[in-house]
Amino acid sequence: MPLDDAVARAVDALRGGELVAFPTETVYGLGADASNPDAVRRLFAVKGRPADHPVIVHVARATQLDELAHDVPDVARRLADAFWPGALTIVVVRDPDRVAPAVTGGRATVGIRVPDHPVAHALLDGFGGGVAAPSANRFGRVSPTTAAHVRADLGDDVSVVLDGGPCRVGVESTIVDVTGDEPAILRVGGVSRADVERVIGRTTVPRTTGETAAPGTLASHYAPRASIEVVDASTIGARARARLLDGARVGLLAQAPIPNGLPDDLVVLDPPRDVAEYARELYVRLREADERGLDVLLVVSPPDADGLGAAVADRMWRASH
Ligand code: TXA
Ligand code: MG
Repeated sequence: MPLDDAVARAVDALRGGELVAFPTETVYGLGADASNPDAVRRLFAVKGRPADHPVIVHVARATQLDELAHDVPDVARRLADAFWPGALTIVVVRDPDRVAPAVTGGRATVGIRVPDHPVAHALLDGFGGGVAAPSANRFGRVSPTTAAHVRADLGDDVSVVLDGGPCRVGVESTIVDVTGDEPAILRVGGVSRADVERVIGRTTVPRTTGETAAPGTLASHYAPRASIEVVDASTIGARARARLLDGARVGLLAQAPIPNGLPDDLVVLDPPRDVAEYARELYVRLREADERGLDVLLVVSPPDADGLGAAVADRMWRASH
């Protein structure tokens, strides 16, 4: 089916309360009409997500902030101007008439994002309202970055899967909460903390625990079946030998160049050449670790520890706990 027709069908599906998987620049999302409580309930059921985990609402353009939120502070507008469309989610005060309480697990706030992807834009623009969408994987599984990942994970539970090719960024959006006294970063992702701080004109404190932190970022929500061990580049050989001696099937994910002299039995996954490729390929490699039957995946975080490197390191740290 031509993409235009597929998008039109997806818009109809959303209007009819059905679920639609769609590409964004970060990861694929599983969308439902954010103003339709039944559709949102179905979304949580298919995803297998606890009811108190809030979902991000996606819109076509920044001017829709005021349609979904109350008391939008100036700093939210500055962030929207700077980064939308893009990999930033802004948490603001929810308008109860436009965003069903189930979307945010009853919270008074809502995370809003304008994704930077032509297919997402066509879908959101055609639909007109807010689309509630978590990443299109079952709860606790690795996020999908291709349409094939979505189909493999969700199967017939989703009526429409829009295929927009592989995701360009590969890790989820950065989440900034602007409802408190000072802006706080709830999740590092596609937009760097330094860039956020430049726009808001002050440093931020990461807030990953507590009442207003983002549920689902606490535990290992980014893990494959293989157990992840984050290691230093200098200890790969020793660690690999120890785990191989235990009888485990051991793999390695590290940015190129891979050091010489590693054990022959170590399965070296195709090494990303830079941090952008690392982020883009991260979830593909984690899936590969499972496909290749690895028990243990040793991971060396990107040498570049800012921006996308911080997002990759964050996901791997969580996956290892
Ligand atoms: O890049 C992304 O953000 C992708 C694409 C599809 O947009 N979406 C995504 O959604 O990663 P999900 O549901 O897998 O993760 C959303 C995170 C969760 O950790 C959730 O707790 C947090 O955002 N979140 C959403 N709304 C929130 C709110 N009102 N307050 C605090 N955290 C919120
Ligand atoms: Mg997710």
